[in-house]
Amino acid sequence: MAKQVTAIYPGSFDPLTNGHVDIIERGQQIFDRVIVAVLVNVEKDPLFSSEERMQLLGEVTGKWDNVEVDAFNGLLVNYALSKGAEVILRGIRAVTDYEYEFQMALMNRRLKPSIETVFLVPAEAYSYLSSSLVKEVFSLGGSVTGLVPAVVEDFMKRKTASNQRED
Ligand code: COA
Repeated sequence: MAKQVTAIYPGSFDPLTNGHVDIIERGQQIFDRVIVAVLVNVEKDPLFSSEERMQLLGEVTGKWDNVEVDAFNGLLVNYALSKGAEVILRGIRAVTDYEYEFQMALMNRRLKPSIETVFLVPAEAYSYLSSSLVKEVFSLGGSVTGLVPAVVEDFMKRKTASNQRED
């Protein structure tokens, strides 16, 4: 039987952007199975709960049969092993990402040499995009249409409206 390769695509996804979706789409074309893993207990104060982030990821990636959504905490390599994954998938948007990604890839290799990190490059239209920037633009009333999936934008609008009602 041919070897099946599982890749983990980890991140905060607070919120999911079209840049992340671009990497997931490219990844699912290459690997047999892609698990998008939401980091829980991030030190960053998240806008969305991990359940909300998983729900949105599920809605957006539901069209791909080989993509699953999950949450994890603790060491990424341990989580990858528990899922039978041999690849960590990461996106590199620009040279500025490289140093951080290089450090993480080498530390993960030191921790678990059998797991390879594979980098993919998103469409250049998303090379400047980050979740923080999306949150900042949105909170100041700017449009995020085209930067995040429509379901994410709707969710952000609904969440802001309900927060305002509570105030
Ligand atoms: N398009 C758009 N934005 C992207 C992107 C893409 N393709 N890829 C990354 N980003 C952005 C994210 O939106 C995020 O933006 P923000 O900082 O404004 O929120 C930023 O790049 C980095 O986020 P992310 O890719 O989610 O990574 P992270 O730094 O939050 O988390 C983990 C990285 C989860 C892989 C890492 O922290 C980890 O492995 N943690 C587990 C503990 C562990 O094992 N530690 C040892 C690691 S060596």
